Amino acid sequence: MTQDLTAPRAARPSHDPELRAAARHIGRRRFLTATGAAAAVAFAVGVPGAGTAAAAELDTARLTDDPFTLGVASGDPHPDSVLLWTRLAPAPYQADGGLPARRVTVEWEIALDARFRSVVRRGRADAHPEFHHTVHVEVGGLAPGRLYHYRFRAGRFVSPAGRTRTAPAPRSRAGALTFGIVSCQRYDQGYYTAYRHLAQEDLDVVLHLGDYLYEYAVNDVAGARAYPAGTLPSGLFGHETVTLEDYRLRYALYKSDPDLRAAHAAHPFVVTWDDHETENNYAGDTPENSVPPEEFLLRRAAAYRAYWENMPLRRPQLPEGADLKLYRRLHWGRLAQFDVLDTRQYRSNQAYGDGWQYPGPESENPARTLTGAAQERWLLDGWRRSDAVWNVVPQQVTFSQRLDRPTPPAKVSMDSWDGYPASRERVLAGAQAAGVENLMVLTGDVHVHYGFDIKRDFSDPGSKTVGTEIVTTSVTSGGNGSEKPANWGDLTAANPHMRFYNGLRGYTTVTLGRERARADFKTVPHVTTQGAPLTTAASFVTEAGEPGLKPA
Ligand SMILES: [Fe+2]
Repeated sequence: MTQDLTAPRAARPSHDPELRAAARHIGRRRFLTATGAAAAVAFAVGVPGAGTAAAAELDTARLTDDPFTLGVASGDPHPDSVLLWTRLAPAPYQADGGLPARRVTVEWEIALDARFRSVVRRGRADAHPEFHHTVHVEVGGLAPGRLYHYRFRAGRFVSPAGRTRTAPAPRSRAGALTFGIVSCQRYDQGYYTAYRHLAQEDLDVVLHLGDYLYEYAVNDVAGARAYPAGTLPSGLFGHETVTLEDYRLRYALYKSDPDLRAAHAAHPFVVTWDDHETENNYAGDTPENSVPPEEFLLRRAAAYRAYWENMPLRRPQLPEGADLKLYRRLHWGRLAQFDVLDTRQYRSNQAYGDGWQYPGPESENPARTLTGAAQERWLLDGWRRSDAVWNVVPQQVTFSQRLDRPTPPAKVSMDSWDGYPASRERVLAGAQAAGVENLMVLTGDVHVHYGFDIKRDFSDPGSKTVGTEIVTTSVTSGGNGSEKPANWGDLTAANPHMRFYNGLRGYTTVTLGRERARADFKTVPHVTTQGAPLTTAASFVTEAGEPGLKPA
């Protein structure tokens, strides 16, 4: 989001001298390959190899302070397994989390009941110092379509309990699915009241569509949160995140929030990132500002690694240097197929210098891509094989056309699919060729709620509606917001396929049934003070086999 550029920019911190030396040694041309970057980062952080002897073990009896300060999480539910996450950090605002560089054994258990009387699986996992003492356990052998409770233990300390669930059996006729969608949670722009409400919802899963954290400096009063002096360690977050240590500490700051921890403990999350987990509006290996590419790839590698460490992600998403395969497919019986996209890592650079611009030959160049060729092929192949009622695409940037004014010439956002029209056309043609009937695109990034009818050809208002797009507003980013932002009139007039626009903060819940889907856009009136009530600002349905949003 370009509107975040108002943030203060402090002096740039630097990567470890040894990492910079490695990057220089490998040389720019080799560094720009995945293996070169992977070698440099592996060199710098000492990833434990499979089967190799890792760091010596810490006797957990020596833990004197609660290491479960950042809560628990679960993610990516499969029919027979789920990913459980925690991190050991008795002192989360210290670079080492308050632990020595030793391996720590953590016990985990998963039960049918909240009192852990019917434990169905338990085991041990290592928290490695190389992974900042994060724990990722893929628990298999579970029953499909079930609610579970889980917790961890290290020494005499027991973690808070989390609640999670498995997906229904493969190809089963699952009846209904309710999920929440969230995005954009800039810590220093408000309180996570929306998460407090989200934690109370009866949901199967939460989809996070990116901007889990922001790289900008956070001052000692945490910006709009206006903390009393001494709440945060002075100066610790007062510069933009660049190094691995910066990103790791920033996740600790975000996860220190009790409402975010409550949401993670209440529901499994399926996460994808946008730009700010790394840097505003980066595109592939092109940074926002004029930084040498090898320097930016070091930053990207640090950001990606800290993301994996701190998210409930499975092993296939473990990064290799500056690469992390985040796009992946999840199924909810035959009811829904989720094709989770990554529109940042492989995209062509934004046309016309980014921002809102008039479209033209540069943005319309068919060689440009938002997904990269491999991800695009994977998406279209997956649709051809899909037998799901709903084909859902959780992703980052606005898919539907947004003209900024009702009379030509109008500008469009070069960072969204409007800046990559050939990419959008290939995806829509692929959906049509695959016979996708019920396409639902889920979007974050723009800090407002929108509901769109997806048109086969946006330049023709009479064109067929081929799907729906639900854009969820931010949790906090942009501050309190307003119901009707300044461009509300222009945007709604210029884009008749836009069925809803609301600029307050909040989240959205979606229920998929075999006959219809329902979206409830939820808002809170303010985020700069705590305790805001929740309102359902609008509700829409879309009938299976008849795309398009109708007021519920
Ligand atoms: Fe954002």
